[in-house]
Formats: sequence, structure tokens, C-alpha cells
Amino acid sequence: MTITQTLSGKRILLIIGGGIAAYKCLDLIRRLRERGATVRPVMTRAAAEFVTPLSVGALAATKVFTELFDRDDEQDVGHIRLARETDLIVVAPATADLMAKMATGLANDLASTILLAAGSPVLVAPAMNPHMWRHPATRRNREALARDGIRFVGPNAGEMAESGEAGEGRMAEPLEIVAAIEQVCAAAPKPLSGKRIVITSGPTHEPIDPVRYIANRSSGKQGHAIAAALARLGADVQLVSGPVSIADPDGVTVTRVETARQMQASVERLLPADAAIFAAAVADWRAATEAADKMKKDGGKGPESLPLTENPDILAGIGTHGSLRPGLVIGFAAETEKLIEHATAKLKRKGADLIVANDVSPDSGIGGSGVMGGDRNRITLLSQDGAEAWPEMGKDEVAERLAALVAERLSGSER
Ligand code: C5P
Repeated sequence: MTITQTLSGKRILLIIGGGIAAYKCLDLIRRLRERGATVRPVMTRAAAEFVTPLSVGALAATKVFTELFDRDDEQDVGHIRLARETDLIVVAPATADLMAKMATGLANDLASTILLAAGSPVLVAPAMNPHMWRHPATRRNREALARDGIRFVGPNAGEMAESGEAGEGRMAEPLEIVAAIEQVCAAAPKPLSGKRIVITSGPTHEPIDPVRYIANRSSGKQGHAIAAALARLGADVQLVSGPVSIADPDGVTVTRVETARQMQASVERLLPADAAIFAAAVADWRAATEAADKMKKDGGKGPESLPLTENPDILAGIGTHGSLRPGLVIGFAAETEKLIEHATAKLKRKGADLIVANDVSPDSGIGGSGVMGGDRNRITLLSQDGAEAWPEMGKDEVAERLAALVAERLSGSER
């Protein structure tokens, strides 16, 4: 059975509290990921007594965050980024203790600190003993949280796992939590609504004569995946694509071009925009003259040389151009050596705010057919603030993360 991607591209931060119901989170994570969400798990110390971070991490296919003062975690992501780089925070199971901390604004561990720094909607799935749930203190906390805009799913009535007592306090079932999450996500305005983004993708073909051309190995997979991810976040995406054999991304307006000059003209026609992303592998040179007829072998010999001329640099033109320059300009740098050095030089020379650098050398360590044409990528993000190396991941995930970054950078900015 295929499951509808109702949560496609949604970044969910799942805070797992310390209760017996924590085991249900394993199923919850699976069901959220099946629906297209990415799940970042945070566990309280008590939660780790009920389920192991190893199982949670394996199901989420990512790192599990547990400590506020973990030097590695803080350097890697940091609690403020955990709180901010997310579309929805889900607390499940929410213990009486976690609810009390949230209601009073206590921040003395990673989970409560994230909740205090949260900028996205929060959904709480309480789970506790019926006496604790009925206690006036918990009732007060629940009301205070509801007034703060926190949403609730459950608890349900039934038998308690640990004591066999019956009453209200059982955590909602994973599918009920999924339904509540879908509802919150559907109601939330998309972060890139109203933003126009121009993106180039694929190779360019530079004609030599009517049948031959200069090209490169770009498949367009990464650029197209970014276009799709931006569209899922609500952006008006204008994709200018060179010749590729992959399908047009959903929800995106596509302009098809062949040459660098056509690509440049299309990009300029589509501006102004809030952001421009240059993921195309534009041919740096083209044949100085395009033969009107197919070039013939002359007595078995071809031409001794093929004079080339430089193509316009589309990114540099826009990046350093005053009036048409979008507020956010992102370039790519595919390198086979001295990745950081070359990419940093491009950041400056081309007037980009960010450069997505990747190693496309055959020994880059990326499996399968490598970065060019393959499905995986390992990028380093370069900006004025320095370099940030991302681990190897699927091109779709790189796209999701880049789109989230664009949303973050554009939030609150006007064209
Ligand atoms: O100089 P290089 O080709 O490595 O630069 C890569 C970056 O510049 C990419 O973002 C690419 O899309 C952009 N570029 C461009 N026009 C060119 C050459 C590169 O927009 N003619």
C-alpha cells in the first residue's frame, strides 16, 4: 500500500518524555517518516530509561539529542537551532513533569530549553497515571498551556500499562498523533508563501554544428530536487532547466533552455525575485562560431582545433548586479580539488551569499555513480561566516535542508 505523503518536507522535532508510553514513539517515528516527514528526536534522561536512544535513532535515521551541555551537540546543531529549524514540535509522551516545566517556563534540560526557545507550533500528547492527570496542578498546567497556544492530542481513557488502573491518562495512539500533526501542519501557513525563487538546473548544451554540442555530466537531480522542496514550502518557483532526462518537479514553473545564453536571458526575464539559486552546471565555453551545416571530415581529417569563447557567467552577473540582485543569491561549486579554497574564491568573485560546494572527483567517496548523475551528495556550505560541512545524504534530503535554510533566511525579508 502506498502511503500519501501528507507530511512531505515537514521537519518534526519529537521530544520524548520519560514514561512507559515512550515505546509508542518508535511506531510514531516510523509512521511520520512514511508520510514524508523528517524526525529529529530529543529524549529526556528519563525517556532513555524506557527506550534506548539507539532504537530511536535507528528509526529516525538520525542523531538523537539528549544533553543540553553536550559540547559535540552544541557545536554540531545547538539547542536554539534545534528549536528553530523545525516546522512542529511534538512532545510525546508528555509527562506531568514536562507539562509543569512548560507551563512555568522552566529550562533546566535540553527538552525544556528547546520548548522555551520554540518558534513553531507545539503539540503535546500527555501520558500519565489517571490520578496525576486529574490533579488540580496538572489541570492548571494544562489550561495554562492551552492559553499559550499549545495544542493537545489525548490522553485517552483506558487501562494503564504499568498499574492496570483504568481512567484517563493513556497516551493517544501513534496514528491519532499523526492525524493531529497533519491537522496542525495543514493549518500552518507555508514558510515560503508569497516568495518568488528563480533556480537554474541541469547542464547547458553549446552547439558546435546542427548535430554536435559541448555538454557536461550534470543530471539536474540536485537542482530539480531543490526546486521541488522550495515549492513544497509554498514558494513560487521558476525553474530554468537545461536539457535533462528527469521529470519536471511538481508545483514548479519550468522554462526549458539549451545554451548558457538562453539560460541567462530566461533568468533575467524572471527577475526580480526574493532569491536566486544557481544549481546549473553551465558550460563555461562555447564554440566561437556555430557551423550552419554539419561539419564534414576533410579527407578523413577533422578540424585541428575548435576555437572556443567564454560564456557569460550568469551567477556572477546577477550576484554583482545592483538593481536585479535578489536578497539571497546561492551558487554552487563543483570541484575536483581544493574544494574550500576554490569555492571560497567563488563566493567572493561571484557575489553570492552562499556557495554549496561539492566534491565531484571520482574518489569523492560517494557511492554508485558519484555526485554527477548519482542520488547522493556531500556538500559544504560556505558563507561569510565560514564553512559548514554536511554529512553525506540523499539529494532529496540536501534539497529539504537547503529549502529550510532559504525559508529561514527569507523569513521576514521583503523583496
Ligand atoms: O565557475 P563555476 O562554473 O564552477 O561556478 C559554478 C557556479 O556558477 C554555479 O552556481 C553555476 O550555476 C554558476 N555559473 C553560472 N554561469 C556560468 C558558469 C557558472 O551561473 N557561465
